[in-house]
Amino acid sequence: MSRAELVWRNAEAADASVVIAALDDWWQHEHMVHGVCPQLLDHVGDTCLIVEERGLLVAFLVGFMSQRHPDAGYVHYMGVRPDRRSGGIGAEMYTRFAALTRERGRTKVMAEIGAWNARSIAFHQRVGFVLKPGDEVVGGLPVIQDTTGHGVDYVEVVWTLGDASRDGPPAAGHPR
Ligand SMILES: CC(C)(COP(=O)(O)OP(=O)(O)OC[C@H]1O[C@@H](n2cnc3c(N)ncnc32)[C@H](O)[C@@H]1OP(=O)(O)O)[C@@H](O)C(=O)NCCC(=O)NCCS
Repeated sequence: MSRAELVWRNAEAADASVVIAALDDWWQHEHMVHGVCPQLLDHVGDTCLIVEERGLLVAFLVGFMSQRHPDAGYVHYMGVRPDRRSGGIGAEMYTRFAALTRERGRTKVMAEIGAWNARSIAFHQRVGFVLKPGDEVVGGLPVIQDTTGHGVDYVEVVWTLGDASRDGPPAAGHPR
C-alpha cells in the first residue's frame, strides 16, 4: 500500500492499548518509561497522530502543547512500524505536528531522545532539530543524566519552526 493510501487521524483514548503495544514491540529497549495511557490520549489526542493501513497501526505521534514552555509543542513519543521505516512517514508526522503547533501560536517543537538511540537522534537532526546543551558530554553527545533510576540518559532536542514550506528534511531524499 502506498503512503498516499494511509489513513491519518487524531488519537482517542481507545488507541492507548495499540500505542502501548507498539512502544513495547517497535523499540525493544528494556527501560521504556512512556506513561502513555487512555486518559492521556483522551485529553491530548487532538494534537496526537495515528497513522493506519487497513485498520492496523503504522505510525503514531503522542504530542501536546507544553504548559511550562508556552512557545513550544512537545513530542512525548513518536514511532513508525519497523517494516514502514525510511519511507518518509516519520518526517510527515513532524510536518503535521509542526502545523498543529503553529496553529496554536507556538514557534518551536521540543523532544527528548534516549542517548542510546543514535538512529533517532540522527533522524531528528535531519528533520531540523538541534541538540540542546546537557549536563555532560558522553560519546560526543550533550547528555542529561538519568532521572528515572533506570540508567537511561537522554538528549534534549529543539526544532525552531520557520517558514512552513521548509518543514521536514530538504527535498533531495524521499519523494514527498
Ligand atoms: C526514527 C523514526 C521515527 C524515523 O521514521 P522514518 O519514517 O523511518 O523516517 P523518514 O523516512 O521520514 O526519514 C526522514 C529523514 O530522516 C532520515 N533518517 C531516517 N532514519 C535515519 C537514521 N537512522 N539515520 C540517519 N538519518 C535517518 C531519512 O534518511 C530521511 O532523510 P532524507 O529525506 O534525506 O532521506 C523511525 O525510525 C522509528 O520509529 N524508530 C524507532 C522509534 C524511535 O526511535 N522513535 C523516536 C524517539 S521517541
